[in-house]
Amino acid sequence: MTQVNAPEFVRHPKLIAWVEEIAKLTKPAKIEWCDGSEEEYQRLIDLMIANGTMQALNQEKHPGSYLANSDPSDVARVEDRTFICSEKQEDAGATNNWEAPAAMREKLNGLFDGAMQGRTMYVVPFSMGPLGSHIAQIGIELTDSPYVAVSMRKMARMGKAVYDVLGTDGEYVPCVHTVGAPLAEGEKDVVWPCNAEKYIVHYPETREIWSFGSGYGGNALLGKKCLALRIASAMGREQGWLAEHMLILGVTNPQGEKHYIAAAFPSACGKTNFAMLIPPAGYEGWKIETVGDDIAWIKPGEDGRLYAINPEAGFFGVAPGTNTKTNPNCMATLHKDVIYTNVAVTDNGEVWWEGLSKEVPANLTNWKGQPHVAGEKAAHPNARFTVAAGQCPSIDADWENPAGVPISAFIFGGRRADTVPLVSEAFDWVDGVYKAATMGSETTAAAVGQQGVVRRDPFAMLPFTGYNMADYFQHWLEVGQQVGEKAEAAGNKLPKIFNVNWFRRDAEGNFVWPGFGQNMRVLEWMIDRVEGRANAVETPIGYVPTYDDLNWAGTDFSKEEFDLITAQDKDQWITEIESHTELFNKLGDRLPQALKERQEALLNAVKTS
Ligand code: GTP
Ligand code: SPV
Ligand code: MN
Repeated sequence: MTQVNAPEFVRHPKLIAWVEEIAKLTKPAKIEWCDGSEEEYQRLIDLMIANGTMQALNQEKHPGSYLANSDPSDVARVEDRTFICSEKQEDAGATNNWEAPAAMREKLNGLFDGAMQGRTMYVVPFSMGPLGSHIAQIGIELTDSPYVAVSMRKMARMGKAVYDVLGTDGEYVPCVHTVGAPLAEGEKDVVWPCNAEKYIVHYPETREIWSFGSGYGGNALLGKKCLALRIASAMGREQGWLAEHMLILGVTNPQGEKHYIAAAFPSACGKTNFAMLIPPAGYEGWKIETVGDDIAWIKPGEDGRLYAINPEAGFFGVAPGTNTKTNPNCMATLHKDVIYTNVAVTDNGEVWWEGLSKEVPANLTNWKGQPHVAGEKAAHPNARFTVAAGQCPSIDADWENPAGVPISAFIFGGRRADTVPLVSEAFDWVDGVYKAATMGSETTAAAVGQQGVVRRDPFAMLPFTGYNMADYFQHWLEVGQQVGEKAEAAGNKLPKIFNVNWFRRDAEGNFVWPGFGQNMRVLEWMIDRVEGRANAVETPIGYVPTYDDLNWAGTDFSKEEFDLITAQDKDQWITEIESHTELFNKLGDRLPQALKERQEALLNAVKTS
């Protein structure tokens, strides 16, 4: 039996017993209790360089940065292998994969038995949210992947200090992860061990996470989608708060007035880019600051405002499409200490991906470690960077404030080639919840499976809600009701809710809207709507700006182009609203009546328009 040998800084007998129990099951050759130190990080990086998992990049161009290439079969989240194992199936709901906890435990016990043989089990202590904050949640991830251990150090607050917060009996979310590739005695390891069979399992009632077979991203860095969204959303429902797939940004106008906005776009639909937006020419004196780029925990305050924190400490962002024009703040963030995964590399040890530059460098090695072939992707479309958020030049002064930042507006947006206009404002909270609940978006490379097909992605949370989606809608309606009442009493207002689409295409398939920094124009209109300063016209699907209602300073974007991205086609909208029935039927009885009524009213309004 492997020696557990807990270090002195761990004073939590139950935790030690749990580590012992998992070690007994998974049978690692060794256990290493991570302390989160720089020395430990570098040692694990060096170990991975020695075994071929990682390579050092050109240290002059990319100081402290490294590259890992994953197995070609392990490149994104696996939604069809992700399970919410509540006691009752209806508590997971129709949009989640479910198995009975007892049956799943038996299956996993078989799979995890001996799964870490020949490997080291790392004990990774982490906090989602500022360490020791009343809002933070602590997790302990047991993993046999050193890549996961070093990535967690960037993505979460990881280290010894977590045990000080836990003390002798503090609560933590147990997270067990294995790549599922035990090594026989003397067997040579591969550079990216993983298993063809994958299970990403959540028990929302006992708040446990078990992940088998993948070493990549949200499948393996269990603090992110598994804890901070799936488990946290279930906690939030019980405790009256929200865990959302949202970026948080602060926007300050030249007069110094500041608003915080939270925006939910599905995976690979623009959160990181919007969070780091640099206002375009014509917007001198405006400032955007970044609180978070992927996840928001939002709690009602006594004053009837909603306060949001970013529970993460780093960015795990999409590389392709990122460059000094589209996202200069991101490029500056990447100046040092980055772990890249599945990007291409030049013979000079510099990273490259589609969209980084117009010219493809000569002698490029692709993400599979082979010479790049023209016409193929050099970087995987879901290639990512892992970097500490504090390195971002636009990071907000309050990004680690445990009290959070007050939210003035919510934005929901999908990737839609047609139908959905650039921006619309919901009539009220219920209408906003309806819009978010029925949002459609084209699937992307962030998840394994077919890409570019429109699916309903309610609140951009389809893959991340840890309980019944219909109950989740109800929770949003209730939060709006409760917060709305408090807000009224305190003279505050509920956040406005907007819908956007940066991705509408013309007949040739080109994006009509320039996007990125230009999204500032839409943001300004929203702020002015919040402040009651901007004009809008009422349409059946919401309030929208006319061409003259947006600020076009510094651009020659024409009224004809504006008409293209804001057109509302009656037939397309009838088809769209009718298609919502498919999701609603799937959700069945638990679907809030208010949303069904909203659908009817909306359909009626469009038909008679
Ligand atoms: P996840 O990390 O998967 O949750 O993705 P995300 O929502 O943070 O998306 P991200 O900002 O990384 O953008 C994904 C892709 O969309 C990148 O290739 C971006 O370059 C591209 N993108 C982002 N914003 C815009 C935009 O406004 N217009 C266009 N055309 N593309 C955009
Ligand atoms: C997403 O897919 O929404 C991501 C990447 O942010 S992952 O962490 O892999 O889920
Ligand atoms: Mn995401």
